[in-house]
Amino acid sequence: MAGRLEGKVAVITGAARGQGKSHCIRLAEEGANIIAVDLQEQIDTVAYPLGSPDDMADTVAQVEALDRRILAYKADVRERHQLRDAIDAGVAELGRLDIVCANAGILPVKHPHSAQHFVDAMDVDFGGVMNAVAVTLPHLGEGASIILTGSTAGMMPKTLTNPALGMQRGFAGAMADFAATALGAQQPELAATSFVIASPDARRVMESTFDAEYTYLGAGALDDRWWARAAATGLLEIANHSWDHLHPALARVAHSRQARADFTQVLTEADADAQIRAAAAYIAERTGGRAAPYFAYPFGHYNEFLTRDYLPRHGEDAGVRAAFTTEPRALRAGDSRWCLPRLTCGHHWTSPAALLRILASA
Ligand SMILES: NC(=O)c1ccc[n+]([C@@H]2O[C@H](COP(=O)([O-])OP(=O)(O)OC[C@H]3O[C@@H](n4cnc5c(N)ncnc54)[C@H](O)[C@@H]3O)[C@@H](O)[C@H]2O)c1
Repeated sequence: MAGRLEGKVAVITGAARGQGKSHCIRLAEEGANIIAVDLQEQIDTVAYPLGSPDDMADTVAQVEALDRRILAYKADVRERHQLRDAIDAGVAELGRLDIVCANAGILPVKHPHSAQHFVDAMDVDFGGVMNAVAVTLPHLGEGASIILTGSTAGMMPKTLTNPALGMQRGFAGAMADFAATALGAQQPELAATSFVIASPDARRVMESTFDAEYTYLGAGALDDRWWARAAATGLLEIANHSWDHLHPALARVAHSRQARADFTQVLTEADADAQIRAAAAYIAERTGGRAAPYFAYPFGHYNEFLTRDYLPRHGEDAGVRAAFTTEPRALRAGDSRWCLPRLTCGHHWTSPAALLRILASA
């Protein structure tokens, strides 16, 4: 059966990776030939990898595997003449233009924020889109489509942070929606556990220290005002992720030898009390006694002292009934409750399909 876009030509900006890549493939599946544009270079203020020439080669291969034509160009959407040259060349070759996906976009949230971050975001996310429309308009005829990709983050007062409930609100809402469905109703114990760092000072330092894995953290993102309300939902549990995570950014940590970034160095009762018992007490107080009785080892690090001595002897009276590592496997009969496996998103799976494969094999 012929696709819905047989004989049409689409231009996609930001085509090397992410949604741009998937737009190229999906439109080609429906029969369109593709003009693919991407910068294929890094922008300094962006903390995560942008599309590369290899990513673009993969987009080309995937479209060609569908027996469609694709012309790939290296061009910067910020530079109108580059974009015009690329698109004019593509249209000359493919004969027409019917669809424009102005999809290239960046999220420059690297700390510390500078004027350059703002300028780059405006240049790409706003100027780049205007340029895409400007250079394609002369090629478009009756019935053509222009699709501009934006972000709801652009409508939020503090971009990614909900002003009332911090980062968790959207997730709690999604959980509540699911719990109200028939499938959710079959899971009365449905709950997601958020492992939190207790020390307010540690959280304040972490918020303001750049970390390439947590670029969305800004001032107030790690406050604890939402804990009690989250715990009260019954759907979002708050549990113990240590006093200060022995976080390397901290000037002082609650550890006798100031060990940082290595939780296996928690080897004495005093250090374990400072990291586990004190954290449990603080979290219990801030959640009105509703904290979940679980501990997640910082960095997934554990040792025999914690799993075989301290927690079996003191776990219960310190408010902990089980502890999680990051050993990526399913639970087995005979596992110690002080050393449970845990698979983590981003490390052990990076897509819903990969998570489903893990669940199916468990
Ligand atoms: N992924 C999300 O959760 C999300 C949320 C809201 C909005 N968006 C928007 O959706 C669009 C696609 O997002 P994504 O997640 O696929 O991003 P992505 O980072 O995976 O891909 C963006 C692509 O755009 C290219 N690009 C960046 N700057 C460019 C420039 N100046 N000129 C040409 N190409 C450039 C990059 O090289 C990359 O290949 C973006 O506009 C983004 O702002 C994404």
